[in-house]
Order: sequence, then structure tokens, then C-alpha cells
Amino acid sequence: MAADRYQSFAPVYDLFACEPVYRPGRLAGIAGLGLRPGQTVVDAGCGTGLNFVHLEAAVGPSGRIVGIDASPAMLGRARHRIRRNGWTNIHLVHADLTAVGPAALAGLVHEAAPDVDAVLATYVLSVARSPAAAWERIVALCGPGTRVSVVDMQLPTGAAAALAPLAALACRLGGSDPSAHPWTLLEHDSRDTHASSLRGGHIQVRTGTPNSTAPPRGPTTR
Ligand SMILES: C[S@@+](CC[C@H](N)C(=O)[O-])C[C@H]1O[C@@H](n2cnc3c(N)ncnc32)[C@H](O)[C@@H]1O
Repeated sequence: MAADRYQSFAPVYDLFACEPVYRPGRLAGIAGLGLRPGQTVVDAGCGTGLNFVHLEAAVGPSGRIVGIDASPAMLGRARHRIRRNGWTNIHLVHADLTAVGPAALAGLVHEAAPDVDAVLATYVLSVARSPAAAWERIVALCGPGTRVSVVDMQLPTGAAAALAPLAALACRLGGSDPSAHPWTLLEHDSRDTHASSLRGGHIQVRTGTPNSTAPPRGPTTR
């Protein structure tokens, strides 16, 4: 299972995350969410929390971030990062996005944040045992208008195809299936998908507003 791989990978994940290559994908996914101060964003498959600094900049101290991951070791690194930075508005949830009941996951997230304005999934769905099952849980977190960004990998195309062996190695190391194309799930379920790609097509970014399956929630005080 993918999370098992990350249990042993956690201590060195940040060293091998190749941020000069992959950070632009995070930034594009986050920009697409159009986050405002005070909003709530779920980081699905948050890993060690490499997105947190960018999400904090977007939602500010009055906003909320909920990080979900299946690997306790990755969550341990995320917790360490939160402590080191003194962030007090990040809540971590230990859950397998392919196994937890959609309603149970929504319950865990809503305990920390009654309304979810946005969900970010960077480099996680192609790693998940079943991207479709994980996507179903993500959609269950969404209310009407919740924005979702999926950022993931495939082999580079066109002139950049020469770099395919390098990209394939990166995918193999991370346990990512470059043929999974999980962004097609968002394209299928959203009426307003915005698409972009980076690094010769290796990084694919999709942002949209999935048709919510969540039951209507009562009025909140926010
Ligand atoms: C390549 S890392 C990406 C981490 C982070 N999103 C980032 O951008 O750095 C993949 C992460 O997905 C998590 N993961 C894999 N399958 C999962 C699942 N079914 N449910 C929750 N997390 C999962 C792993 O534990 C790991 O932390």
C-alpha cells in the first residue's frame, strides 16, 4: 500500500522532493483555488506539509488548513513543521482516502472546519491505490462552490519526452503511476475545469468546482 512506502520514506521525503521541479505545480494548484484570508482549505494527502507555507500565506492566521494523510510518519513530519513554524490553525487527520467511509471522513474534517472552501491534492492521487476511491472522498468533502485543485504527474510530452526516463524514475521512486491521469476525475465531475501544464507536460494542474454530493449544511456562524 502507498502509505506503507511513505512510512519509511518520511524522514528523507523533503530531501528527495525535487522542489525546484515540483514547487511550481503546488503554486499553480494553490493559485487556482483563489483562496482568501479566513477561508478553510483541505490538503488531501498532505504528506510532510510542503504546501502549508503557501496555504498559510493564502488563508492567513484567521483561516484554517486541514491536512489528511494515511501515513503516520508523514503526518509526524508535518506536525514537526507546524510546531517549528508556530502555526496554530492547522489540524491533521490520519485517514486513508481510499478506505475511510466518505461520511466518516467528512465528519472528521468538519469537526475541525465546518465549511470547506477548497481542497488541494498535490502528487497524491496517482500514488493512491485507487485514485477514483480517493476522489470520491474528496468530492464528499465539498459543498456547493468548493474549489478543488488536482496537481499530478505524467511522463513529459513533445520535445520534453527526452526527459521521460528521468520522470519515470521519479514516479517509480514515489510510487506514482504516471498513466493514472487522476485529473480526468476532476474534469469529469466539474463544470468549469481550468487546465494547465508545466515542465514539458510532466506536471498537470486542474482546478474546478465539482458537483457537490454533500447533504446541505445548516447555517454557520462564519
Ligand atoms: C508524493 S507524496 C505527496 C505529499 C504532498 N501532497 C506533497 O505535495 O508533497 C504522497 C502522499 O500521499 C499519501 N497517500 C498515499 N495514498 C494515500 C491514501 N490512500 N490516503 C491518504 N494519503 C495517501 C502518502 O502517505 C504521501 O504522504
